[in-house]
Amino acid sequence: MKTFTLGQDKEQALQLIPDRKIKVVRLGNTKICVSRIGDSFYAFETQCPHRKAELQQGVVTSFGEIVCPLHEYRFDMKTGDVKSGSCGELLTYKVELTGDGLKIYV
Ligand code: FES
Repeated sequence: MKTFTLGQDKEQALQLIPDRKIKVVRLGNTKICVSRIGDSFYAFETQCPHRKAELQQGVVTSFGEIVCPLHEYRFDMKTGDVKSGSCGELLTYKVELTGDGLKIYV
């Protein structure tokens, strides 16, 4: 497992990822989606586990879910659990907001 850091402090991390927006970031050879609700951050794979739609085009709900833009399946952004739909789980990554920025463990 590798650790990546977004931003240099908490404020910078909050500015880099606007509330309820989804940003795709490249960490080494891996591209992942990063989002947040308030100061709760989430990181997950860029493609939907159902039919590989780009989740950056999806919608973040106030329940901590990402809604896929193609067939509107819903996934828990923290655990990857499928909340609506029938397919495999979403791959998620551990994140931690620190005074040195947002740590992402890939
Ligand atoms: S491709 Fe995401 S729900 Fe079908």
